Amino acid sequence: MTIETNVEVGGLATFGVEAKAAALVRWQTADDLRNLNEVPRPLKVVGGGSNLLFTGDFGGTLLLREGPAEMRRLSATRFDVDAHMALDDFCAAVAEAGLRGAENLSGIPGTLGGALVQNAGAYGAETGSLLVDATLFDLQTGRTLTVDREWMEFAYRSSRLKTEGGRYVVLSARLELLPPSAAANVDYGNLRATLGDAEPTPEAVRRAVLATRDSKLPDPATVGSAGSFFRNPEVGAELLRPEMPRYDLGNGLYKVPAAWLIDQCGLKGTAVGGAAVWPLQPLVIVNADGRATAADVLELEQTIVSAVERRFSITLIPEVEHL
Ligand code: EPU
Repeated sequence: MTIETNVEVGGLATFGVEAKAAALVRWQTADDLRNLNEVPRPLKVVGGGSNLLFTGDFGGTLLLREGPAEMRRLSATRFDVDAHMALDDFCAAVAEAGLRGAENLSGIPGTLGGALVQNAGAYGAETGSLLVDATLFDLQTGRTLTVDREWMEFAYRSSRLKTEGGRYVVLSARLELLPPSAAANVDYGNLRATLGDAEPTPEAVRRAVLATRDSKLPDPATVGSAGSFFRNPEVGAELLRPEMPRYDLGNGLYKVPAAWLIDQCGLKGTAVGGAAVWPLQPLVIVNADGRATAADVLELEQTIVSAVERRFSITLIPEVEHL
């Protein structure tokens, strides 16, 4: 374990805005986490930093896990995976093994642990639905515990790990995939069209998902962003307009694509300083020139929220965690 103090940490988040933390701990084991009495509070785990915006300097301690991230096969379809493994590495490995269930999550940036915290999802699949159980470290009690899927209270881009505000660190998770004989999940958007006549093997679906992402989302290697900046709002029938795309949640609420609302406000490409609305997927705010400041991003966020509110009386809620 190493501890650095008053350290530049902007590079730990994919947005790439500058920020300092009072301390940064690089840790490997649960025992390391038991030895943090001296470091400034609050403690905050960072995974891949792909859903995180530093809104200024952080007065607490960031916890970054280092060391090899491994997956162990427990049975034909079950794996025990270290939480700091990149989610996409896991997706690639199980697709290659011919297993289904994770191929639609291909290309989502960040670690498995981060994906569980926010129940990351794409193309009709969610990380939480693969979970059997997870081993957590409780920062409040210093104990480890194993919890099942029900305990996690997974919901749209949410889990108990998220609502309890960083109390728990995910150490590892057991995930259950589906056998090769299971049906492909290709009903979302243009996935089936992208596949064309190809047989929807897990690897073919993975390639189609990656191609779709590439065509809409900024390349994380060259343009900083944190993926979708806002959640898709859930609204009552009174706020719907005839032309508005919607997904009926069956409980009187409708999920409306935030990208559509932002698009309708004519905000594609709108910029504040170095921060800009990504023209191909306006749900994404990018660090266009690599020099955006946190203030630029926050001002652009406010511009978008106000414009959508004025026009549709719908208040967008950020999906990206603000630290
Ligand atoms: N749309 C427009 N204009 C555009 C782009 C999209 O009007 O320029 C509208 C269209 O109506 C389109 C709809 O937005 O049908 C939905 O677009 P898309 O399928 O790209 O999905 P999304 O709802 O905008 C969500 C996730 C993404 C995930 C995609 C694909 C959230 C907050 N975002 O976006 O997740 O990749 O579905 O499954 O739920 C992320 O969370 O970081 C993320 C990238």
